Amino acid sequence: MAKKKISIDKIEVGMFIEADVRDAVKGKGATPSYGKNVLLLGKGTLVTSQNQVRRLKEAGLNEVTIDTSKGKDSAGGRVEQGPVKMKEKPKAKPPGGRKTFFRDEVQVARKIRGASVKIVKDFMGNAAQGASIDGEKVALASKTLAGSVFRNVDALLSLTALKDYSEHTYTHSVNVCCLTLAIAYAWGVTEEEAGIIGVGGLLHDIGKSKIPLSVLDKPGPLTDDERKVIMSHPLFGEEILKSMDNVPEEAFYITGQHHEQVSGKGYPRGMSGADMHPWAKMAAVADVYDALTSARPYKPGLPPHVALRVIFDGKGIDFDEAVVDTFIKQLGIYPVGSFVKLNTEEMGVVMEVNPDDAMRPKVGVIFTQYGKRRPSPFVVDLYKEYKDRGEENARSIAGADDPRNFKINVEDHLDVSG
Ligand SMILES: [Fe+2]
Ligand SMILES: [Fe+2]
Repeated sequence: MAKKKISIDKIEVGMFIEADVRDAVKGKGATPSYGKNVLLLGKGTLVTSQNQVRRLKEAGLNEVTIDTSKGKDSAGGRVEQGPVKMKEKPKAKPPGGRKTFFRDEVQVARKIRGASVKIVKDFMGNAAQGASIDGEKVALASKTLAGSVFRNVDALLSLTALKDYSEHTYTHSVNVCCLTLAIAYAWGVTEEEAGIIGVGGLLHDIGKSKIPLSVLDKPGPLTDDERKVIMSHPLFGEEILKSMDNVPEEAFYITGQHHEQVSGKGYPRGMSGADMHPWAKMAAVADVYDALTSARPYKPGLPPHVALRVIFDGKGIDFDEAVVDTFIKQLGIYPVGSFVKLNTEEMGVVMEVNPDDAMRPKVGVIFTQYGKRRPSPFVVDLYKEYKDRGEENARSIAGADDPRNFKINVEDHLDVSG
């Protein structure tokens, strides 16, 4: 079955109606004497006459659902994937095996990421001008990102620690996409499902293209009216997605629901966790994590371990519990970009997470045990040391700190930027 929602003005003879169509306007349209909610065409009807087409067009509806496997297709519209067959519970442990080495994948991932940022920039520019957006281009970008995640999730995940302040909105969209994909991967979705999820991730903030930059980037506190405008961006986003060709239904939910909270205190609709789409719950966690760790004109970015703490504290209130647990398991206790102190008193930046042991990543040591800055950092593989020397004699992480206290910009030390 291939369900698709199309604009009512695209209905034609030969299309197969998938859901009941009822008159939306009382005293208007084809059935003035009956009024609102009268059944015009039942589920499972093939449109056979121009008369039916006219009746449908006069019924005051915006959209109608057709089944393209049983009748004629239409250009445009949104493809409905049917109910999501989500596993209720995530995998106990994120998938361990990696198909490619981190060093290799990160080179590929960096190119894919750069291309995705450009695509987001293009479509947001188009959306701002009311021009159409190429849904297939977005779908292809998403598929490519999902492919990298399924080869070696750590590569794209580590790149999300890089923020580009001048292109913040575009980088943010790609980061949220990658973080959501990483959660979904750890949860156990298929690569095909990940391709759909990624479309939602890339498009999630597209509604912001309708908000003036003076409001969006305002450094000071917002007025109530400005806040209301910003809080409408998920709804603006839904409108834009409706106008696009062949956008999967789930992308629509991710865009519309990424600021909802499981407690029902989110926006724009105040939906409860039970009503939220599971993939929107993943995007909601990814969105807040990237926002917290990013510096903005009005705030510095939080270190990853502090941002993780905030997410953890919001478990079951702001965020879905199982999604938070999956996220933390996937990201590691000390995600890439964390500034850590070792048991030797040396300090450094987490450069690569070990998927088999979250406590033993690779660390680029920047400060000696005496607090002296090293002329050049050297990389210690804590897991390898532990295996080679045993627990007693190996370096290990003693805790994390805020790199700003040591005048360190962690991004300068991530060996992933090229
Ligand atoms: Fe948003
Ligand atoms: Fe966002």
